[in-house]
Amino acid sequence: MKALDLFKTLRRSASSDVPDSTIYNLISYVFGVSKIDVALDKDIIVDEGEFRRVIYLLGENVPFAYITGYEAFYGRDFYVLPGVFIPRNETELLVELALKEPFNSFLDFGTGSGAIAISLLLENPKSQGVAVEISHVGQLCTKYNAEKFEVQNRLAIVSTLPENGMFDLIISNPPYVAYELFEEVDYSVKAFEPLQAVFPEDPVLVFRDILTYSLSHLSDAGRVILEIDSYVESDLQKLASSLGFYYQVTKDLSQFDRICILSRSS
Ligand SMILES: C[S@@+](CC[C@H](N)C(=O)[O-])C[C@H]1O[C@@H](n2cnc3c(N)ncnc32)[C@H](O)[C@@H]1O
Repeated sequence: MKALDLFKTLRRSASSDVPDSTIYNLISYVFGVSKIDVALDKDIIVDEGEFRRVIYLLGENVPFAYITGYEAFYGRDFYVLPGVFIPRNETELLVELALKEPFNSFLDFGTGSGAIAISLLLENPKSQGVAVEISHVGQLCTKYNAEKFEVQNRLAIVSTLPENGMFDLIISNPPYVAYELFEEVDYSVKAFEPLQAVFPEDPVLVFRDILTYSLSHLSDAGRVILEIDSYVESDLQKLASSLGFYYQVTKDLSQFDRICILSRSS
């Protein structure tokens, strides 16, 4: 087969809003064919079954990460299994802000693929972390990623918030989208990503659980750093002040309230 034919066939199979760069990434991950191979229209050997599978999945709008098995986050490629939330670019801001704070120990609530926790461990080699994830496939994915990046000895993976332990940092990108907003959420999220990763019964209750836990498990100078959406911001602010937390919000590049940093002292 010719590399250009591979590119053109996958381009036609994907929806028009998928950028060419995504198709190039796809053929590189799945078939080991580079953009230069396409430009030079090299002869390539492509597994027929894999070729048909990718065309089918693209036609069904299956997210790129579930086709390749990877998603890039904070400069690294993380394994992502179907059934595990795909880490998002905007969550990199959470990691960036966390790394400005001093910490040795941290807890990541709702770790998903482990992208946040493992990025923190790699960027802060002296740190130790606990990753809390309710989904079994999420725990498995975090374990694979921890092994891939050789941080498994510094990361405990658990299914519920641990009774013991004090943390300098409690971080989370929890499920925070209210079911009232179901219609507004992208089709591919609703069709393919785990709903419990996105829609909680009550978003404010999730934040309340994290903050209540933080009252007894955050070290005195520690920080709670949360990804939020603008519409929960005022409820969260009330909740935080009722529990005695100082509160600060950072906007994302689109000027939406996105990251909330809480502390016990100003
Ligand atoms: C929005 S996803 C974030 C995943 C990952 N931290 C990231 O940013 O890519 C929320 C995660 O929280 C997990 N989760 C939901 N409810 C939970 C609970 N009660 N305890 C632990 N994890 C939970 C979901 O399974 C999902 O993996």
